[in-house]
Amino acid sequence: MEMLVVNNLYKSFGGVKAVSNINMKIEEGQIVGLIGPNGAGKTTFFNLLTGIYSPSSGDIVYKLNQEISSINFRPSRMVKYGVARTFQNIRLFKEMTVLENVLIGYHNNFKYNLFTSLFRLPGYYKHEDEAYDEVVELLKTFNLYDKKDVLAKNLPYGEQRKVEIARALASKPKLLLLDEPAAGMNPQETRELTELIQWIREEFDLTVILIEHDMSLVMDLCDDIIVFNYGTLLARGTPEEIQNNPEVIKAYLGGE
Ligand SMILES: Nc1ncnc2c1ncn2[C@@H]1O[C@H](COP(=O)(O)OP(=O)(O)OP(=O)(O)O)[C@@H](O)[C@H]1O
Ligand SMILES: [Mg+2]
Repeated sequence: MEMLVVNNLYKSFGGVKAVSNINMKIEEGQIVGLIGPNGAGKTTFFNLLTGIYSPSSGDIVYKLNQEISSINFRPSRMVKYGVARTFQNIRLFKEMTVLENVLIGYHNNFKYNLFTSLFRLPGYYKHEDEAYDEVVELLKTFNLYDKKDVLAKNLPYGEQRKVEIARALASKPKLLLLDEPAAGMNPQETRELTELIQWIREEFDLTVILIEHDMSLVMDLCDDIIVFNYGTLLARGTPEEIQNNPEVIKAYLGGE
């Protein structure tokens, strides 16, 4: 079943066409890689998928908790729609602990009844306990439990990336968008991340789209790869097809 449909999508900034005539469908349960040279429009595409930018023209439709189109996207609503993301430039609350950062992800998905939270009724405490337990489980999975009380700013870069992924997952998304999850990781961390993303997909029944420059991760992990070049969709296929596509090879050799 397709869960995302993109039609004739364009986004320009002044004279720059950052995203140009993109059409695609994404099937539920897939891990899709989005690759392409620097400036190809990958992050802009994620910003369109999450309501940070609105399209110059064209539209995006999700068929998740409900059917919604890009006219209704707002960054603050995306979690409710079932879409969570991480950022190319990590955005954690640096002065908060690992645990607190991930709890925020959890609470993004949960609205207390006004009275329950105002008067701290039993439901409030019950929910807080559940939140804590679930987040602790998540931290254990991510090998971050020992660091739950460390301030985010004091973690090495690779672990900050993992906290951001855990925070996105805590909101219980159906679609997870990862913008360069392996950036700043060493080869060992990258291998662990590859396994973690695979495991997450099975465990949480997710669809994942990930932007990545690390080709070993992309080729190992992705069912389907989409290549952007100068804002347009240059190619799409299996890892093997993409590796052997002359146009893709040319774009990479010429572009980076
Ligand atoms: N807010 C903005 N204002 C003006 N131009 C922008 C803006 N955001 C992106 N661009 C331009 O759009 C183009 C695509 O940028 P984008 O960040 O989407 O590329 P990218 O594929 O994510 O690159 P990288 O791999 O380096 O992260 C670039 O030319 C960039 O300068
Ligand atoms: Mg980018």
